[in-house]
Amino acid sequence: MPETSAAEYVPAELNIPALRTAAGECHGCVLYQHAQQTVFGAGDDAAGIMLVGEQPGDVEDRRGQPFVGPAGRILDRALGDAGIDRGTLYVTNAVKHFKFKATDRGKRRIHQKPNRTEVVACRPWLLAELRTVEPDVVVLLGATAAQSLLGNDFRLTQHRGETLQLPPDTVPDHDAVAIATAHPSSILRLPSPDRDAAYRDLVTDLQRSVELLG
Ligand code: URA
Ligand code: SF4
Repeated sequence: MPETSAAEYVPAELNIPALRTAAGECHGCVLYQHAQQTVFGAGDDAAGIMLVGEQPGDVEDRRGQPFVGPAGRILDRALGDAGIDRGTLYVTNAVKHFKFKATDRGKRRIHQKPNRTEVVACRPWLLAELRTVEPDVVVLLGATAAQSLLGNDFRLTQHRGETLQLPPDTVPDHDAVAIATAHPSSILRLPSPDRDAAYRDLVTDLQRSVELLG
């Protein structure tokens, strides 16, 4: 059985355009087979703050950009309310290909959560992005992103909004902190009073990431 990992596809040269080009050819797990394209990170490649989501959705898969669909609209609103210009950030995902189930004879593509094997397989791309951008603060949007960098035992419900240390193998030679918060899509799924509270938490956590920049 071939190894399930992106590692052999990651080039030695650490710059975002080279990484993005190489990731376009990644067959590190099965998810490249049905998605339209790799959705690599985008934004300021010298950003102080990096946002990490779960994986591209349907709209992202068609457009090749992270967070440009419904989840992206919530994220953009929260960034606006937090007084953050998205152009100053680097935005990426833990997994770079869209995982979905086709329904209605292939007309609708329903998001499926990536499994641990796929998250671990794709982790070399995320580590390469961290080593290239060298952010001071990493905002982990949802449990998948948090567990990719902090381990499978990490519980978002227990640690949301806390200032967390990243393990040394994720950002060698660099002091970076992380903050884990709700994924914008999870906020969309909540009933309304809970949704408003979760949205306010997201805005607070985004504001906190700027404070952590110092
Ligand atoms: N959800 C994510 O986690 N990332 C995206 O890019 C879009 C939706
Ligand atoms: Fe490679 Fe990640 Fe896509 Fe899997 S999801 S094929 S590891 S880029």
